[in-house]
Formats: sequence, structure tokens, C-alpha cells
Amino acid sequence: MMTEKEYVKKTSLEHRKKYAQFFTPVQISDFMASWVLDGKEGYQSILEPAIGLGVFSRSMLKINHDIRVVGYDIDESIFNYATGNFANSRLNVTINLENYLTSSWSDKYDGIICNPPYLKFHDYDNAKFVPLVNNKLKTHLNGFTNIYTLFLLKSIYQLKDGGRMAYIIPSEFLNSDYGVEVKRALLQSGVLKHIIIVDFTQCAFDDALTTACILLCHKDKRTDCVTFSNIQDVANLSTCFADNTAYNYRELNPEVKWKRYYEETNSSKYNHLIPFSTFAKVSRGIATGANNYFTFKASKIDEYNLPEECFRRCICHSTDVRNQVLTEDDFDEIANEDKTVYLFNGCSDDNNAQVRSYINLGEANGINEKYLTASRNPWYALENREPSPIWVSVFNRNGLRFVRNKANVYNLTTFHCVYNISEIDTDILFAYLVTDLAKEIFLDNSRQYGNGLVKFEPNDLNKGNVVDLRLLTEEEKDFTRRASEKLQYCESVNNQIIRLLDDFFRDRYSSNHVDLPHYVSVLQAIAAIKQSATDKKKITAASKCKQLNIFNL
Ligand SMILES: C[S@@+](CC[C@H](N)C(=O)[O-])C[C@H]1O[C@@H](n2cnc3c(N)ncnc32)[C@H](O)[C@@H]1O
Repeated sequence: MMTEKEYVKKTSLEHRKKYAQFFTPVQISDFMASWVLDGKEGYQSILEPAIGLGVFSRSMLKINHDIRVVGYDIDESIFNYATGNFANSRLNVTINLENYLTSSWSDKYDGIICNPPYLKFHDYDNAKFVPLVNNKLKTHLNGFTNIYTLFLLKSIYQLKDGGRMAYIIPSEFLNSDYGVEVKRALLQSGVLKHIIIVDFTQCAFDDALTTACILLCHKDKRTDCVTFSNIQDVANLSTCFADNTAYNYRELNPEVKWKRYYEETNSSKYNHLIPFSTFAKVSRGIATGANNYFTFKASKIDEYNLPEECFRRCICHSTDVRNQVLTEDDFDEIANEDKTVYLFNGCSDDNNAQVRSYINLGEANGINEKYLTASRNPWYALENREPSPIWVSVFNRNGLRFVRNKANVYNLTTFHCVYNISEIDTDILFAYLVTDLAKEIFLDNSRQYGNGLVKFEPNDLNKGNVVDLRLLTEEEKDFTRRASEKLQYCESVNNQIIRLLDDFFRDRYSSNHVDLPHYVSVLQAIAAIKQSATDKKKITAASKCKQLNIFNL
């Protein structure tokens, strides 16, 4: 018997990733099997669309020996092991070495159980399979659809009247753009009964970077409600039916992120929330198309003897920015450490021999024929736009990170840019954005990738909510602007100011009452300490700041 554990030991990660071979823990498999069989005795036809080593069949056979399982797998190696696993058993398991998506659509089953492959659109033949499913089901899934949703919709189609189905899939589709059409199809099918969200800090699949949800379906012709439950621990699966929130089918809107149905949203605690796009527009940082070629350190510029005017000052790595604010001095300090902070941009004097030879070098190495460079004219001229006054980090373990770009330098895609700031002063907007409150509210629009990683696309931020800063009184605006301007030198002082701003905005937008004189006096006290520090010497190193005697607020 080849177990999942042995298989993982024997098989390279590369191979397992290619076929998306992440295995279902037995506790989850037993739970899903008991839903599908529902204590039924007697003959049942069961489909396992992505059988792997057959963990679901093993769970089902513990409950009912009188079932006939038809399984599919596309990988010959796992197929051979799985066939061996069931070869000498008296049980009726037939495994086909075949792509499930091209297998028969007309065979129908009493039960379907599956942990489908998770493959992004570029990792499978989406141009073939998305239209195949759309044609069969008259859906409008877009090309970015992950393969697991194709499995799900085909399986719903193959479920017999009265049949039951259990699927475990990443919960990403519940909150992503490509998931809208999938949720619509799920609701239209009327089979969805329960969604169980498995807490992403306790990933069901240890080595897969995804959050999981279990969908339990029943083709019982009743479309009264869907329940949502969260479980923190797979040991609590059996209690999930007791502790859940039910929504009527009519209440569920496929267009919105379904997180609102199973999580208390941070936004709901605060008043006067409006889209961030009211104040600004977030767009990507500069994409060069070939960072190794376009980015320079001071020493590399010397090496090629290129003139200064060929370069833009640019932050290429988010880790080079150590503070909430990037000043001219900070930039100089980073540049003096010989970090990569310059971008080659050709120059007006293209006849300069050194410049010409660097451009020729790029052409000799095919840099001019890359995807991005080939569409530019000339290929080495970067996007012509201003530096943005605020940046936000894209992929962060500790939530969003906003940076005030006072050095007026450019940034690569490691940060998104906040442009077109209107209706509110940039410093006031920044004072709000650095608070934990802002991050919490944005988090409602985040995409969860599991293991605490959260990725924000520009549009997640544009559509995300912020408090309506226009409602601040002139005195409140003055306070926040001054607090924002004081964010600068020293990490420990900054942290105190940020906590003060956080308390202020929470008070202001949850109760509409705020004791402004208190906040103003605390800010003055923090500023006095910072003043005495800066009087001694301008402090840039966080280590030095730690020596300051900062009092507790
Ligand atoms: C996530 S694993 C699940 C395996 C097993 N059912 C379990 O839960 O532990 C998905 C399985 O589907 C197989 N697979 C990938 N693409 C497939 C396809 N297009 N058709 C059928 N099987 C596929 C993989 O080889 C892998 O064994």
C-alpha cells in the first residue's frame, strides 16, 4: 500500500507541483466521506475526479462496502500506485488514467468527492478547457479561472438528482474576481448547502500556500439556505453544523466578496467609509522588463562610465526603505551604501560613446526583444511619469506598509504608487494610511494566500474603503497634518505618533466624538522629546533612537 506520506518522500516537489498533488488529511477526508454517503446503505455510484492515492475511497469504504468508485488521475506515476493500492481489494474501484475535464460528461453519480488540482491559468491549457466548460454549461468563466473551479462545475453537472457532493478547494474564489462567475453558477445550480472555511493559519494542506474551504452540496431541489462556518481546528469539523450562520439563497450576492458572510468585517465597526479612489489612484510601480540591465548601483555606473543624466533615482527593493518616510538624506545614505538605486533611461546624448555601447550591449543580449522592452520606443526609454508622493508595499507579511516619498524618487514594482491625490492634503491622507485602522479596513478587500501572506493588487486598494477624511474639522486636520509632518527620523518616535493617530481615527470614526485637546497635548509631548533629540544631532539610525527616553502614552 503506497501511503501519501511515502509518496511525498519518494516524489520530487517539482513533480508534485506540476500535477498539484497536495493530499487531503484523513480527518477531513472522513468528514467529507460521511457527508457524501450520509449513512446510506446499499449500492452507491461514486465519482472521484482527482483520485491521487485514493484517500477518499478509503474513507468511504470504512462506511459502506457496497459502493462502486470511478476515479480519474492524469499522472501515470500516481495512477500506478493508486491502482496497486486497490488491486487486491474486493472493493469496486476503477481508476482511469485520463484528464477528468475531457472525460465523459454524461455519466452521472450518486456521490462525488474531490480535492481537485489547484493550477493557475498559466499552468494548464486554459485556452482549451475554459471554453470547453463554458460551452457545456453556458457559463462565462474568464481565462484567469483556476482549474479547480472547472472541476467543481463539471462535477455539479454530473451529480444525480438526490446525489451528494463534497469538494475541498482554496477559499480564494469566494473573494476573487474570477470567482464571481463560479459563485453565480453555484447559486444557480441550487446544490450548495454548507461552506466550511478552514482557518488559514492552520492550513489544511501544510505545504500548499492556500486557504481551504469545504463545499458540501446536495441535489435535493431545495434552495432555501446556505450556511457558513469557520473552523480553527480540523478536530472541530463535527461541530461545524451547530455553529454557523445561515443565509437565504436570495441574500447571497455573487458579485461581492463572500468574506462578509463568514467574517466580521473590520469596516462594519466604523462610520463614514468611502472608496479610496475618492482621494487617490493606486497604480503599479515601474516595470523595466529587465531589472538586471536597467538597475544600477553607483559602482556599476562608474564601471560603465555612464553620464549622470542617463539615470533616474529609484528605489528597487522595498527593504532599502527603513522608515515610514523616505527623505533626501535617507536616499543619499542608501546610495552611499552602494545599493541599487538608479535606473538607466537612455539619455538625450545617445551619441555618447559609452551610452551607445551600453545600449549596444543590451541589444547584443536581446534585452530589446523582451516582452516589455519590445513595445517601447526606443526600447530602453522607461515610462514617462512623475514619482508618486506615497508608496505602498505589495506583498507583506505584516499587512500593508505605506511610505511617504519625500525624496521625490521613483520606485519599481516592489511598491505600488499612490497618484492623483485630491480632496485632501497628502500629509493628512498619509497620517491616516499609516495607522493600523487603515490596514484593518483595507484587509477586508485583501486576497488571502494563506500562511499570513496578503497580496494587494492596485484595484484591491482603489476599491477598498477608507474613512471620509473630508469630514475632519479644520482643527482636526491641523492636528493630523502636524502629526504626519513629524513622522520622520526615528522609529520609536514614529511608532508613538502612529499609535496616537490610530487612537484618534478610531475615536473619531466610531463615536463621532473625539477629545482633540488630549491628542494635541500628547503630540506636543512626543514632539518635545523628538525636538531635544534632533537638537543634539539629527538622528537617522533607529538604534540611536532606542536610547531615547520615550515615555508611555
Ligand atoms: C490535490 S490532489 C488530490 C489527491 C487526492 N484525491 C487527495 O485528496 O489526497 C489532485 C490530484 O489530481 C490529479 N490531477 C491533476 N490534474 C488532473 C486532471 N486534469 N484530471 C484528473 N486528475 C488530475 C493529480 O495528479 C493529483 O493526484
